[in-house]
Amino acid sequence: MHAKGIVGMLAVSALLLVPIGAQALAADMGAVKGDYMNFCARCHGATGQGDGPAAASLSPRPRNFSDCATMKKISDDTLFKAIKNGGASVGLSPSMPGWGTAFDDGEMKDLVTFIRGFCH
Ligand code: HEC
Repeated sequence: MHAKGIVGMLAVSALLLVPIGAQALAADMGAVKGDYMNFCARCHGATGQGDGPAAASLSPRPRNFSDCATMKKISDDTLFKAIKNGGASVGLSPSMPGWGTAFDDGEMKDLVTFIRGFCH
């Protein structure tokens, strides 16, 4: 086969891979929403405002993820670390549990992306 033919084939397979990747991402985002609703919403609230049913008794209150001015100042690394190792690991409230044994790193990165979505 000519080199040109191989390049052409590679280009076609690259095009085919794009929609598959997008679908996988959408599926992951469905799973992460379920994770958030099951494990996080009771404190952080279904719409991320820090007003879940378990939030009232907490001091300080869980972070309001829709407070864009505040969220802009916090890096993805810090959010990830807070989720993985708990609030105390980033100087926040120990009422924020660590989830490192419940989720793998990929799932926790998806949670960071999901939380960012509360700020439009
Ligand atoms: C028991 C209540 C509770 C649950 C459940 C909970 N959180 Fe939290 N979360 C908190 C509190 C309290 C804080 C700390 C707020 C503070 O100190 O300002 C916090 C902080 C955070 C932060 C750090 C925000 C920042 O300012 O850096 C992230 C990220 C976070 N939570 C994500 C999650 C995710 C994702 C889940 C679910 C897997 C979850 N939380 C479950 C109570 C909770």
